[in-house]
Amino acid sequence: MGKPRPLLMGSNLKMYKTAGQTREYLAALQELTADIPRTELQLFIIPSFTSLPAAVEQVDQDLIRIGAQNVFWEDQGAWTGEISPLMLKDLGVGLVELGHSERREHFGDTDLTVQRKVQAVLRHGMHALICVGETAQEKELGVGTERLRAQVKIALHGVPEGALDQIWIAYEPVWAIGEKGVPAEAPYANEMHGVIRQVLKELYPNRGADVPILYGGSVNLDNADSFAAQPEVDGLFVGRSAWEAARFNEMIRRTLKVWKEARR
Ligand code: 13P
Repeated sequence: MGKPRPLLMGSNLKMYKTAGQTREYLAALQELTADIPRTELQLFIIPSFTSLPAAVEQVDQDLIRIGAQNVFWEDQGAWTGEISPLMLKDLGVGLVELGHSERREHFGDTDLTVQRKVQAVLRHGMHALICVGETAQEKELGVGTERLRAQVKIALHGVPEGALDQIWIAYEPVWAIGEKGVPAEAPYANEMHGVIRQVLKELYPNRGADVPILYGGSVNLDNADSFAAQPEVDGLFVGRSAWEAARFNEMIRRTLKVWKEARR
């Protein structure tokens, strides 16, 4: 293993919480987790676009980083309804989630548009959290690893090694996400993280292994620590089970404990 790094824990709030609710949630989460050294934990929350100004105002981003759920690849233009990277930067947002499976499934995000968005995010000095994951059908057909390899290679096409510290990857198998999702078994997640790590090493022999890979998909209070024990898992990207501050705080503490023990 390389140099010790903090456990990454974060939540995508999807289309939940108004600005006021986001503020309350963040205030509670910041207070509850204030004593955890940020050398051990890096915490991030990704609210809706309309909650971003309130979120940025509410938190100390050294304690909780604020991210956006998407971005467009142009800085400006006749693109009704889109949000540009400049607009995010202007708000003080430095992290952008890209290619979530819900965006790929319902809003036409593709490997190629994700690639353009990665370029836009990097161009403006922000961090990209790139979501990849195979569908149930791809898994059944035995092409899950090929799918992951393609998603990672296309998303990172043209990204120089020097920009790698602006990249996080989230492995989120599509069949594991949301109400109907079944969480991946921790060893399976570990194996797929290994596949992603291998592609990263092929693309970037010197620094590819250092890119953090987070697991997401029906992570909950009972299974979170099982993922943290896996050597290839660098963090967790949580939906539903993180949307109540006290419960997320509890999950963070349980996970961090196992994470530290496993890496002693
Ligand atoms: P759930 O934890 O609700 O399955 O959502 C995960 C997710 O989509 C994170 O981006």
